[in-house]
Amino acid sequence: MQIIFTIAELRKRLADERAIAFVPTMGNLHEGHLDLMRRAREHGSYVVASIFVNPLQFGPSEDFDRYPRTLEADCARLQGLADVVFAPSVNEMYPAQQTVFVEPPAIANELCGASRPGHFRGMATVVLKLLNIVQPQVALFGKKDYQQLHIIRRMAAQLNLPVSIIGCETVRAADGLALSSRNQYLSEAERGEAAFLYRTLQGLRQQILLGERDFERLQQQGVEALAARGWAVDYVAVRNQSDLRTVTGAQRELVILAAARLGNTRLLDNIEVCLAG
Ligand code: PAF
Repeated sequence: MQIIFTIAELRKRLADERAIAFVPTMGNLHEGHLDLMRRAREHGSYVVASIFVNPLQFGPSEDFDRYPRTLEADCARLQGLADVVFAPSVNEMYPAQQTVFVEPPAIANELCGASRPGHFRGMATVVLKLLNIVQPQVALFGKKDYQQLHIIRRMAAQLNLPVSIIGCETVRAADGLALSSRNQYLSEAERGEAAFLYRTLQGLRQQILLGERDFERLQQQGVEALAARGWAVDYVAVRNQSDLRTVTGAQRELVILAAARLGNTRLLDNIEVCLAG
């Protein structure tokens, strides 16, 4: 496995590869990322991972500076899974001030976008840059970041990117907590509580499967259940899978999404609900 730091060297290395599967990451890899890497191998004969903490997708008061940077350990975990790791510096990715951006669809201002203005614009911009640099046939993303995956799919479709976007199931700890690099910010007590987010979503899903259709009430119930245990809730939302808009009619493929803070750590999760008939 080769570790490459510059765009020029990466382009040279990939010039003759025709079946590249790509997994973009911000590093601090956990089992969820490694699962993406294993799936990547099913989709391409050559597997590229990128590790880049993208300043463009962090707000001024967010955790860009303290985001864990663990390149050496990450590369050790990628041995045998990736053929190349691309780990550019900020200067390599943004040698001049970035003045051209991907303008994501309006849904980027809702859900996570409501409390993270500019986040999805910065995310979509770096993903497009990375796709242009790596030029993979397939790129894989986790469903834990459901809204991110939706926006990337829209970008790839509407900008006619020659890449297939694959969404992969969320990998969870034994108690149900979705794996995330940010979980390591949690104190021991917070880590014990953290799985309650997924349990809340499971409870709401069960109610929908049993026939509940008052989604406003369910959302409120989710918010109150979390708040009662000390969570600061950004949102609990029942949406359509296809466009992430509110459910207005007979849509049958739904998703319940939530983001909430436990102490200083913002966790997000989601669960799909497919109604029969
Ligand atoms: O999901 C992430 O880790 C990041 O948002 C991504 C897709 C690597 C872009 O920086």
